[in-house]
Parts: sequence; C-alpha cells; structure tokens
Amino acid sequence: MKGAREARGEIRVTGVPGLPEIEPGADLGRLICEAAPWLRDGDIVVVTSKIISKAEGRVIRSDRESAIDAEAVRVVARRGQTRIVETRHGLVLAAAGVDSSNTAPGTVVLLPEDPDGSARRLRKALGERLGISLGVVVTDTLGRPWRVGQTDAAIGAAGLAPVRDHRGKPDTFGNMLEVTISAVADEIAAAADLVKGKTTQVPVAIVRGLAELVTGSDGPGAAALVRPAADDMFRLGAADVLGARRTVREFTAEPVDSGAVRRAIAAALTAPAPHHSEPWRFAVLETPRARTALLDDMLAAWTADLRGDGFTEEQIARRVRRGEPLRRAPLIIVPCLVAEAAHHYPDRRRSDAERSMFLVAIGAAVQNLLVALAVEGLGSCWVSSTLFCQQVAARSLGLPPGWEPMGAVGVGQAAAPPSPRPPRDPDRFLMTM
Ligand SMILES: Cc1cc2nc3c(=O)[nH]c(=O)nc-3n(C[C@H](O)[C@H](O)[C@H](O)COP(=O)(O)O)c2cc1C
Repeated sequence: MKGAREARGEIRVTGVPGLPEIEPGADLGRLICEAAPWLRDGDIVVVTSKIISKAEGRVIRSDRESAIDAEAVRVVARRGQTRIVETRHGLVLAAAGVDSSNTAPGTVVLLPEDPDGSARRLRKALGERLGISLGVVVTDTLGRPWRVGQTDAAIGAAGLAPVRDHRGKPDTFGNMLEVTISAVADEIAAAADLVKGKTTQVPVAIVRGLAELVTGSDGPGAAALVRPAADDMFRLGAADVLGARRTVREFTAEPVDSGAVRRAIAAALTAPAPHHSEPWRFAVLETPRARTALLDDMLAAWTADLRGDGFTEEQIARRVRRGEPLRRAPLIIVPCLVAEAAHHYPDRRRSDAERSMFLVAIGAAVQNLLVALAVEGLGSCWVSSTLFCQQVAARSLGLPPGWEPMGAVGVGQAAAPPSPRPPRDPDRFLMTM
C-alpha cells in the first residue's frame, strides 16, 4: 500500500482486516492505527457504526421491539412486524437501526448516541496518533423506499464535506444545474460497503483518492444530510398520515394556496357515498369580504337564537365574544350536502335511515378533505356554525338550490404546532364477536 500512487481520477477502497471483536471502552483510534499503519494524509476512514456502538457501550440487554420503541420518535410506516421509524438523530430507517445480529443473545446494539460526535472523536484520535489530516465517515445500512435492497449511508462524518453542491454550475452543454447536490458522504459509505461486506468481519475501510473532500475542520457532519422537515415531500408515512390531522383554531395570516385546496377537494371526492351518488359540494370563500359577510350573518342568527332562549344582552355579548376560529382563518370552505339522489320512502324509519346515509357520506368526504389539507401542510378546523343556521348561511353564500351547508372548515397555516394526540386504546371502542 505504502507509496502507492493513484492515477488521476482513481479512487481506491481498501478493507482493514484484523480488528479484534470490539468491547465496551475499546480505543478504536489505536486499533485502527495498528491495523492500518499505512494511513496517510487525505484518506477517508469509513467505520461501520456497529463497532462504534460496541466501543461506546451502546449494547443493551433488551428485546428488540422495546429497544425500537425507546429509540423511535416517530413511526413513519409499518407493515406486519416491520417498522420504519425516525430516530432522534432525524434518520428514517427500519427498526430505528436496532440490531440483534452479531451480538450476544438477549442483547441488541443501538446506533451511537451522536454519530457525528463519534466521527469527530475518532478523527481527533487518529489525527493525533498519526499527525495527519483525515476524514471519518460512520455508516449504517439503510433501505431505500423506491429501490430494492439496502446500501450503506453516512450517519456520522467529520473532516469531510458531506455534500458537493453543483447548483449554479453549468453542465457540459452549458445548462445550469439547478438541483444537483451530490451526497458524497453517502456515496463514500456505499463504496466502502463493497469491501467491508456484512459477514467478512471487516468493519473499517479506507477510501483514498478523495483528498479534495477532506477538510481542515470537522465540518457540519452527516447531520447536514438529514432533509429538513419543511423540504420533505414525503414527510408523512402511511402510519401517521391520519394522525397528522388535528383541529387547528389559531392560524397565521399566510394566504392559502388555491392549488392545495383543489387537491384536497379532489381527495374529498373519493369518499364513499350511497347509491353511487355524488352528494358533496364545496363553497370556497377566498375573499375576506365573502368570509366576513357569512360570519356576520351567522352571528346575527346566533344572537337571535340566544335572545329567543331568554339570555340577557350582556350574557349574549359575552357568549359571542368567545374566540371564533373561523374569524381568524385565511380561508373558509363550507362543505355542502346535495341529497337529491336519496330514495323516497313512505315511512319515517326508512326516510330517516336514508337521510343518515347521506349525512355520514358527507362526514367521510370532509374527513378526507381535512386529512388531505394536513398532508399539504395546512391546518383546519371543522366547526358546526352553518349547521345551526343552514338557511341563513345558504342565503348569505348564494348557494344553488339543494345545497345544504354542513358546518364550515377554517383553513390556514397553524399558528403553532398542535399538541400531540393522546393515544386511544382501540379495546375501549370495539366489541369482538
Ligand atoms: C361536526 C363537527 C362539528 C364541530 N364543531 C366545532 C365547533 O363548533 N367548534 C370547535 O372549536 N370545534 C368543533 N369541532 C371540532 C372538535 O371539537 C374536534 O374534532 C375535537 O376537539 C377533537 O380534536 P381533533 O379534531 O384535533 O382530533 C367539530 C367537529 C365536528 C366533527
């Protein structure tokens, strides 16, 4: 190895065999230096996170499922026993990276507490021993949602630019590259996996020939490769899409994208409905004028109701002064039922049942609407309002004949993240026969 020179553009990936079984407290810097004394300036040391975890005492006595529960901050998807979760590092991976292979029965290996910190410590230890400047990448094996098979990726890095940003540079045809950022730390991790392998007991590999990526400082680490939630188009996994909807009563003033509203209404229209009918309609109140007119007319109707109930003017003023989420919403959607497809029956029992069918169908559509808005990143509150003054609301909105308003949905950006939903035990809500 020593003295070997790479041709221009050549990258060499060399496994480091001969490391002992790693015990808690092991000095990885010393062990790697002894096993690879030929390390030199500009090399990148790629280390499987498992040996870092073992050295850092991240092997615990636990069953796998409890360990995953403890490591996960969010379940993104689940099928059978398989759980794809987000860890507190922001990594999204199967089983929170908890591994029960290559460890004593009854124990599991957790990911390092702070993989970037582990990379920084190892880089410092290696640099001090050898008097050279190196990059360090800590890897784990990840699946990819749209690709068969796993590859290694960087979960920790130090002394290495984790990405190469090509944006704003011309391609060979002179076109500006607009979105290309190469995740070089991941590419290095995957290349190293080709020689490390899973079963060959080679947990470390050295990548030579990429010295231009090695930096004088530790740099931002692999944390820079975690896509910010706001940029994540696939933020909601199948497991948490329904839980993402919460009733939001405080909104920012930010206007609502009409494209998002159209897409949410399209989702509403996929709801089941009786007799293959299409009983759903939506009045979208985009202008402040339309919203204020409706809310003022409803307020007058509510006040009249309260007067009819015998409340004093002071009591009425107090009641109607209560916070009204629709007043603060930058957009209102009034879902309406058109029950013209309902069958007619001569008796009350069947007529009521028919009516119930259409009412539950509009409920299904509104739930779809609210969930789809949540997927678009929009908060919503479905409030009763127009249901208590349907004729007043229909007149105020100028609804076509037969459109029955079914409450109103305030829509906008939530002013604050909603509080976590307390879990409900399905056993309390079901009977099994
Ligand atoms: C038909 C219907 C009418 C509602 N009316 C009101 C309302 O008038 N005011 C209000 O603040 N919330 C209203 N809500 C929202 C519920 O209070 C809300 O769903 C409940 O607090 C549970 O919170 P979550 O939606 O975040 O799960 C209504 C919900 C439904 C389904």
